[in-house]
Amino acid sequence: MRKNYIMTPGPVPIAQEVLAEHGRPLMHHRSPEFSMVFSELTEKLKKFMQTGNNVFVLTSSGTGAMEAAVTNTFCRGDKVLIASVGNFGERFKKISATFGLEVIALDYEWGSAVNPGDIKKALDKDPGIKGVMLQQSETSTGVLNDIEAVGKIVKDYPAILIVDAISGVGASELKADDWNLDIVCGGSQKAISAPTGIAFLSVSKKAWAMIEKSDLPRFYFCLHAAKKAADKNPPQTAWTPGISIIVAMNKALDMFFDEGRENVYKRHRVNALAVQKACEKLGLEMLVKNPSERGVSVTSIKVPDGIDGKLLTKTMRKKYGVTIAGGQGKLTGLIFRIGHLGYVGIFDVIIALAALEFALKEQGYEFELGAAVTEAQRVFFDNNYMG
Ligand SMILES: Cc1ncc(COP(=O)(O)O)c(C=O)c1O
Repeated sequence: MRKNYIMTPGPVPIAQEVLAEHGRPLMHHRSPEFSMVFSELTEKLKKFMQTGNNVFVLTSSGTGAMEAAVTNTFCRGDKVLIASVGNFGERFKKISATFGLEVIALDYEWGSAVNPGDIKKALDKDPGIKGVMLQQSETSTGVLNDIEAVGKIVKDYPAILIVDAISGVGASELKADDWNLDIVCGGSQKAISAPTGIAFLSVSKKAWAMIEKSDLPRFYFCLHAAKKAADKNPPQTAWTPGISIIVAMNKALDMFFDEGRENVYKRHRVNALAVQKACEKLGLEMLVKNPSERGVSVTSIKVPDGIDGKLLTKTMRKKYGVTIAGGQGKLTGLIFRIGHLGYVGIFDVIIALAALEFALKEQGYEFELGAAVTEAQRVFFDNNYMG
């Protein structure tokens, strides 16, 4: 017998209740029943992102929301500032370059966070910058950027602020309106813990004013089309949506609010801390050196000398049924990443750590078996956390 566990930073485990909703007989997307679910979902997403702005739901993976944010707001040749701390920052650059924008790159070492002061300096230096883009949680490294501080800066400039919060929102605090975030992108398969395939984005009035003037090519991801359909009574989607995913997300968001925002955040904080402390107990090194820059969605751990990182993740998956993630881009083979995002409880963390111990031991890494598991239990116990 073998059980499988997903401990990656997306897709993430899905609750039985959500899977049951996903398996309901299909409703037609132009039926009143679906319209009701769709408008409920849109309202819940606004609450989830803490915004009174319009939220648009797209049938795509998260990258679709990133692309929609870019192609709907700018004009050909516009200058955009992209603060990149990893693979997904690079993705914003690639999308922007693909659509003919002039990218001003603000690059940081992978494993460090953005310094908001640098964004102010760049905006002061070039008042022609039309947009600032960055990640809240950079999933390729595990860094959490201080987007609240960035929002305080960008609001005083003509530029709009586009935040990829795909692996951040719902795990870490995010207040789209209070923090002046013009566009916030999210995805179904991250903290919401629903199946893959739905992206969403909130759009401020400042961003919408730019959308009115934007001339970049787009069709499927056109927000005018999305708005026209959503404004119908009852609300619609422009195209045939991922109906079952939307139904599942609607349930998953109920579970988020039932657990309570603060409790969800605490669960993520304690799970992340347990993974970090447990790995440090094994003598492993964190990629993100500064603890205050570490996020709570994923922990990136350096592959120690003498250990084959690819074999480690393969052993965990094939032999023990625990899927974790390797490194991405230039960190491929150098780190492994344990996701603790979404529907993840303390025993999921303990199982992942136990499998990690086995896989490390098999490669001759020296430590006392049980050390990581014991340390995680201590963290849960000390934090009075058994959720
Ligand atoms: C921070 C971040 N941005 C963007 C994406 C891209 O999302 P998707 O793979 O759903 O297109 C991901 C997915 O891992 C992510 O974590």
